[in-house]
Amino acid sequence: MALLPILSYPDPRLRTIAKPVKEVTPEIKTLIADMIETMYDAQGIGLAASQVDRHIQLIVMDLSEDKNAPMVFINPKVTPLVEEKQPYEEGCLSVPDVYDKVERPNKVHIEALDENGERIDKVVDGLLAVCIQHEMDHLNGVIFVDYLSRLKQTRARDKVKKVLKIREKQAESAANKQAQASNV
Ligand code: NI
Repeated sequence: MALLPILSYPDPRLRTIAKPVKEVTPEIKTLIADMIETMYDAQGIGLAASQVDRHIQLIVMDLSEDKNAPMVFINPKVTPLVEEKQPYEEGCLSVPDVYDKVERPNKVHIEALDENGERIDKVVDGLLAVCIQHEMDHLNGVIFVDYLSRLKQTRARDKVKKVLKIREKQAESAANKQAQASNV
């Protein structure tokens, strides 16, 4: 298994429309395992293939507290079952350290396939309904900050830039330390 690099807002590749998965090949299974590992490593609860620059209709998610119940959705179709929208504070691994309220219908019907090609057909609400709609947006090239004001989008862009710079520095100093350690 391997950790995959996650694309960051406003990378234009995040705007790519994902294509349906034709067949769950061994390569797709490896991608699923890598995406789950990447999601856990980044402490996320959901990840769409679009975010790791693979533009196919594939989503992984784990909403459990112990992070031991991964869910896989292939070629998902999500239909809202209520008109009323409710606000929920969202975040995204592609927009690190930015959180804001987005309004979505909080009851949806999910149809998809799982990693074994078994049909998923269920009605969900609450966090799972929010999360699947957020990930579906990724497959359609939409990011949650698109729902926010221009000003907030600009702020989000600046924030992500800052966070990436800090991470780069941290990675550099970690690499330096490792180099020093191996000199001993
Ligand atoms: Ni996201």
